[in-house]
Amino acid sequence: MEHPELKTEVARRRTFAIISHPDAGKTTLTEKLLLYGGAIRQAGSVKARKAARHATSDWMEIEKQRGISVTSSAMQFDYNGFRINILDTPGHQDFSEDTYRTLVAADSAVMLIDNAKGVEEQTIKLFKVCRLRSIPIFTFINKMDRTGRDPFELMEDIESVLGIRSCPVNWPIGIHGDFKGLYHRDTRLIELYSGGDHGQGQVNVETVSIDDPGCPQKIGQGYYDKLVEDIELLDVAGDAFDMDKILSGQLTPMFFGSATNNFGVEPFLNRFLTYTKSPTPRVAEGVGPVAPDDDKFTGFIFKIQANMNPAHRDRLAFMRVCSGVFEKGMTVWHSSSNSRVKLAQPQTFMAQEHESVETAYPGDIIGLFDPGIFRLGDTLCTGSPVRYSGIPLFAPEFFCRVSPEDSMKRKQFLKGVNQLSQEGAIQTFKRPNIGREEMIAGVVGVLQMDVLEYRLKSEYGVNITRENLPFRFVRWVVETPKPLEKLRLTSTTAIAEDRVGRPVLMFENEWSIRLAGENNEGLVLAETADRMTADEMD
Ligand code: G4P
Repeated sequence: MEHPELKTEVARRRTFAIISHPDAGKTTLTEKLLLYGGAIRQAGSVKARKAARHATSDWMEIEKQRGISVTSSAMQFDYNGFRINILDTPGHQDFSEDTYRTLVAADSAVMLIDNAKGVEEQTIKLFKVCRLRSIPIFTFINKMDRTGRDPFELMEDIESVLGIRSCPVNWPIGIHGDFKGLYHRDTRLIELYSGGDHGQGQVNVETVSIDDPGCPQKIGQGYYDKLVEDIELLDVAGDAFDMDKILSGQLTPMFFGSATNNFGVEPFLNRFLTYTKSPTPRVAEGVGPVAPDDDKFTGFIFKIQANMNPAHRDRLAFMRVCSGVFEKGMTVWHSSSNSRVKLAQPQTFMAQEHESVETAYPGDIIGLFDPGIFRLGDTLCTGSPVRYSGIPLFAPEFFCRVSPEDSMKRKQFLKGVNQLSQEGAIQTFKRPNIGREEMIAGVVGVLQMDVLEYRLKSEYGVNITRENLPFRFVRWVVETPKPLEKLRLTSTTAIAEDRVGRPVLMFENEWSIRLAGENNEGLVLAETADRMTADEMD
C-alpha cells in the first residue's frame, strides 16, 4: 500500500456543518469548539472574523459595504486525536445557495436551536437538505442559561415541524432561567451549572451522580424529584437511543447546553465525535461505492468562490476529498473537461488563515486555484475516471426580472449572467408565453441580487435594471397529466422554464403549491433539479 497511514487518517476524521437560524449561537458554539481544539487562543476571534473577515479581502466591495460575508469556508482543528472539519454555513443576510451546497460536502450536521425560539425558518430549510441526503443530525439546544421553552415542548416542536423523532442524551435541570445543570443519561452524572464561562475544558465543573444520596440536596429536592419524574417519562415513553436510526438520519440525539458559558459543549463534542462516523463510501455513477480508504484519490467540487481579484477572472474552487490521498501538485482526471489537470496552489482552511496544503485525506476540504475550468459537482480523481453524482440545483426564493440598462450591452450582459449561473451564484428562468424576451434571475438569498448587480457592473461593465417579481417558490415539473397551460393553477402562478428549457412553475405562496397538487392529479413537482443536465447543455 502506497499510503499506510490512510486508514488511520480516515478513521480520525469528522466533517460536519452546523445548521441554525441566525442568532441561535452558531458563531459562539464554533468558537468554543475551536477553543477545545486549541485552534484559536482567544475567545472572540471567530466573532471578530465574522464581523471583519473582509477587512482582508477587497475583491468585492459589496462585502465591505455591508460588513458581511458573501461566501463561506471551512475550518479544521484537532481534538482528542480527531481531525475535525467544520463547514461554515452562512446564515445571516449571506444565506445563499452555497449554504445548501456546503451541506452536500458534510457527513453529519449539528442542528443548533435557541431554547426560547424552537425550530425556526432557516433551520427548517437546511434540515430539509440534510434529510435529502439522510445524514445524521445532532441537536444542540442552546442558551439554557436563559429562560426558554420546556424541553418536552422542544422535543415536540422538532417532531411536528421537522418530522424527526429526538432522543435526549442529556437533560436540563431547573426552570425559568434558574438553570441548575445537566443530567447525562449514559453516565447518570449531573454536571452542576454555576454560571460564567467554564473555559477550555470543563475541569472546574462539579459533578454528582443521580444515585448519590447527597444529590437531592445538591440540586434541591424539588428539582431532583422533577428530574427523576422526567427521566422516567423519557425511559418509558421516549425513543430508545438507536445508532442505526441516528446514522440514517431518522432519529436525532438531543443535547442541551449554553455556548456562551461553555457549558454542555464539551460533553456534547465528546459524544458527537464518538457517535458520528468517519467519512463513508460515496457512490460513483456506474461504479458503485468508493471506499474512503481506497488508494485511488477522488474528490468533488461543491463550491466556487469567484474573483478574488477583479483584474483576473480566477476563482477558488472548494473540493471535498472522498478517497485516497490528495497531494500538492498532483495530476488528476477532471470530469467536465474529460482531461487531466495539475492541481497547483491548494489551500486548506485553518481557523484563521488559509494555509498551503501538502497532503489531505478523505473528509478534508481544500481550496483549489481555478482558472475558470471547474464547475459545481465536478469529480477529480487519479487512475481510471469515476464520476460522483452532481450537486443539485436548489429552488431559489427571490426572483427579479433583469435587463441591461443599455441594450447595446446585451451581449456582455448575457455573458456575465451565463458565467454567474455557471458558478452557481444565480439561476435563470424565462416565461415563454410572456410575448417579449425576458430574463428572470432567481436566488436563494436576497443579497445575491446585489451581488449579481455589482458583479455585472464591475466585471462586465453592464449596468442592469431590476424589477422584483412576487414569486417565492419555484418547482420543477417532473410529471404532468396535461399540457401546463391546461393545469388548474391559482391566478398568481406562472409557467416558466429554467436555463436549459425544463418546465417549472413559479408560485407566490405555499398555499398555491398545495392547490396545484390537489387540483391536478398526477402532477409531480420537485424542489431540486439535476445540475449536470444544465451544464452539459452549455
Ligand atoms: P449566530 O452566529 O448563530 O448568529 O449567533 P451568535 O453566536 O452570534 O450569537 C447570537 C447572540 O446569542 C449573541 O448575543 C450571543 O452572545 C448570544 N448567545 C450565544 N449563545 C448563548 C448562550 O448560550 N446563552 C446566552 N444567554 N446567549 C447566547 P449578542 O447580544 O448578539 O452578541 P454579544 O453581545 O454576545 O456579542
